[in-house]
Amino acid sequence: MTLESDLSRIGISLPSNLLDKFDDIINKRGYSSRSEGIRDAIRTYITYYQWMSDVKGDREGVITMVYDHDQRNLLTAITDIQHEHHDVIKASLHSHITHDRCLEVILVHGDGADLKNLAERLMALKGVESVKLTTIKIEK
Ligand code: NI
Repeated sequence: MTLESDLSRIGISLPSNLLDKFDDIINKRGYSSRSEGIRDAIRTYITYYQWMSDVKGDREGVITMVYDHDQRNLLTAITDIQHEHHDVIKASLHSHITHDRCLEVILVHGDGADLKNLAERLMALKGVESVKLTTIKIEK
């Protein structure tokens, strides 16, 4: 049980459509409050980051990303990053989900650290909604 004195209070700014989507999910999942939902989301984020940190050695995998097609210079930035990592990218598949959203699936093979680095660079771009890296270890 967490003591009330151990709680830190933070203020965050969010785009209203992001908050609407979040509220919709926490309502569906039955969270008692928005704070509880945000605590859970932060725990999931930390777990995902730690799981990503374990991606080591020779790996085969996919990077799945969703992004905003209308974000200025984003397509060029994504292409530049992929060219810089051409040694680990085997193929990519692009699907135009709606008028302004794109889904891209990138098939990768290489050292886990390099795959993670590629995923993190894509994740950091403005206009990128989500990036997920899934890998399997290559058994020798
Ligand atoms: Ni597209």
